[in-house]
Amino acid sequence: MRKLLHVNLFEMNCVSHIMHGMWVHPDNNRHRFNDLDFWTETAQIAEHGTLDAVFLADVIGTYDRFRDGPETALREAMQIPSNDPLLVIPAMAAVTCHLGFGATFSTTYEPPFAFARRMSTLDHLTKGRVGWNIVTSYLPNAARNFGHPDEVPHDHRYEIADEYLDVLYKLWEGSWDDDAVVQDRERRIYTDPSKVRYIDHVGEHYQVAGPHLCQPSPQRTPLLFQASGSPAGLEFAARHAEVLFIGGHTQDDVRRNIARVRERVVAHGRKPDAVRFLVMAGIIVGRTDVEVATKLESYRRLVSAEGALAHSLAAVDLPSFPHHLLIGTLIDQGVPLADTLLRRFRREQTVGEALAQMASLHEDRFFVAGTPDVIADRIEIWLDQDGIDGINLRQYLSFETMRDFVELVVPELRRRGRYRTSYTDGETLRERMFGTGQPRLPAEHFGARYRDPGLLQAPADRLRFAGPATADRAKQLGTSSPP
Ligand SMILES: Cc1cc2nc3c(=O)[nH]c(=O)nc-3n(C[C@H](O)[C@H](O)[C@H](O)COP(=O)(O)O)c2cc1C
Repeated sequence: MRKLLHVNLFEMNCVSHIMHGMWVHPDNNRHRFNDLDFWTETAQIAEHGTLDAVFLADVIGTYDRFRDGPETALREAMQIPSNDPLLVIPAMAAVTCHLGFGATFSTTYEPPFAFARRMSTLDHLTKGRVGWNIVTSYLPNAARNFGHPDEVPHDHRYEIADEYLDVLYKLWEGSWDDDAVVQDRERRIYTDPSKVRYIDHVGEHYQVAGPHLCQPSPQRTPLLFQASGSPAGLEFAARHAEVLFIGGHTQDDVRRNIARVRERVVAHGRKPDAVRFLVMAGIIVGRTDVEVATKLESYRRLVSAEGALAHSLAAVDLPSFPHHLLIGTLIDQGVPLADTLLRRFRREQTVGEALAQMASLHEDRFFVAGTPDVIADRIEIWLDQDGIDGINLRQYLSFETMRDFVELVVPELRRRGRYRTSYTDGETLRERMFGTGQPRLPAEHFGARYRDPGLLQAPADRLRFAGPATADRAKQLGTSSPP
């Protein structure tokens, strides 16, 4: 069987998500993100192209390290202003029947009970079409927005996240039986009370009594997305994630990263194919080479190095250094280039070259520009040789990038048997990723244990897999830098 490509539209409820500077393009609609019809139009085009889902990134603070303040982010509309990702989903669901939705929410700053309810509500309203991108929030400003003096240390965020997930699984998987709601008019019983239970979670970070306020939704637990780059993140992903963002500079990198995750997934008692792997991809397609070149040129002209620098969380004001200086010289002089920059730059590059690189279209392994056959050739390599399962499609122009993909790439992929020709009626988002008949978490997944009422109130540490020793063995994964 030839692998089919999964495609999410990579979105964020803001103007400039990743491709900074592009909002000024006359054909860009990003400034309409406050309007409901921006989202309904997005959803309708995506469903017309039988995309898997619209995937919404999110941050809960602003990027204010660059030049010691938020001014650049504000000027560039770089993820600020930005609105809540969950709230546009019902509008998109109302104008579609099949399209899925992924929404990002952080486990670090708000306790889990209300979030469990919001996601169950969305799962009901969409009939099982939602997924959750689990993030722990890397922005220092996010910490300050929620009463912390500074960033919660990285690995500690994953410890909190682990307990957060415990609470959610108890609410989603364990608190209500499938047949709890009887709607018996004669006996005047809506819900059979013997089939609903408290969870009485008492942990290090949370105390949650339950019961969950929502009756079981089609998926119960929404499809779980995650992106990790660190050992702690990898262990977390191996236990919880069902769809994982992966990266790598070369094919070998990508294959190695996937193999590493699979190994850890199996160590957590799950099947090797229990996780699907997605990458962030940039695709610029045209009907002719001339059209492609014109698009490339017009995008390259607009892309903003300052937006990208602010996004990188680097404090250093790179444009203020003489452009002929070498990056190696700056490093030797102790100029604090953030890790996000050090990973991209080479010592022998000049400051000018590094800035030009920041003002680029992320032309990495998962970038391709060309006519539809060129794009499809490359996607087939990604699927068959790199071993990925799908992409989050980065947008240059809304709606042009998605329209181009739907009108030009989708037919070519379909012709090659690499992309669905229609949706399967009534399938949940989890079934779209893993096949029909499995709308809920598989039995081997960590969260499924709470379906056993006997385990619901067991002390959490009795249920955990041995974490720390395995974390030591995990290596850094090459995911892309956080969008
Ligand atoms: C494709 C992709 C999407 C991401 N989306 C978000 C997001 O919307 N919000 C966020 O706070 N972090 C996001 N991240 C960052 C990850 O949650 C994570 O912090 C990053 O990959 C580093 O991994 P680590 O936490 O293991 O160090 C994303 C990362 C990737 C690769």
